[in-house]
Amino acid sequence: MVERVYASPSTTDLTRPNIRLATRSDLLDMEWGDEFRHFRNVYANAFARMQQGTTLIWVAETQANGLVGQVFVQLVCDRPELADGWQRAYLYSFRIKPEFRNHGLGSEMVHVVEEYLRHRQFSRLTLNVAHDNPDAQRLYKRLGFQIVGEEPGVWSFPDDKGMWHTLTEPSWRMEKLLRRPNTPVKIS
Ligand SMILES: CC(C)(COP(=O)(O)OP(=O)(O)OC[C@H]1O[C@@H](n2cnc3c(N)ncnc32)[C@H](O)[C@@H]1OP(=O)(O)O)[C@@H](O)C(=O)NCCC(=O)NCCS
Repeated sequence: MVERVYASPSTTDLTRPNIRLATRSDLLDMEWGDEFRHFRNVYANAFARMQQGTTLIWVAETQANGLVGQVFVQLVCDRPELADGWQRAYLYSFRIKPEFRNHGLGSEMVHVVEEYLRHRQFSRLTLNVAHDNPDAQRLYKRLGFQIVGEEPGVWSFPDDKGMWHTLTEPSWRMEKLLRRPNTPVKIS
């Protein structure tokens, strides 16, 4: 495997980011200062679902810079074409800090997710990527995802002050086959 070297504007951190499941104490750091504070409730709700076993959150961490990436995976949701609890899982809220991009960390995080899901016998990983995000589309295509549909991409969330916002991000729905789906065993 090629060793990666990461450089940030203030600190040079030569350690390889550690990818691990999130803990409650990561929630504030996932706000990246003020940048994603408006998602405080979104992250807290995802963490509550993680404790119930229906969502997973992975973070990437370096010694010098703390959290530098995150990816969420929903195992079940009210749209079975995205996540149905046994075959399909849905990847979202995936981001790497800008100064750590383009060094393979994003690909590595998706790989960690895929290995986990294969181990749990999931056969497909789904995601939505905005029409106006060609960089992420290129990454997903390179990792083996294919476009399977369009999504209006309308979703709502309560911010850290409890005020509701609605975002509209017209998107492609993409999917990757992780393994052959389980076929029912025929008993004769
Ligand atoms: C999308 C995102 C998570 C990708 O993370 P990343 O760490 O930059 O991903 P990678 O480094 O694995 O891949 C990015 C590119 O770097 C290239 N790359 C990988 N390792 C590299 C290395 N060692 N040296 C140079 N380039 C490298 C990859 O080939 C890839 O090129 P491509 O875009 O032509 O496919 C990141 O860009 C991001 O956070 N974007 C903003 C949020 C976002 O759009 N999230 C996705 C929402 S659906």
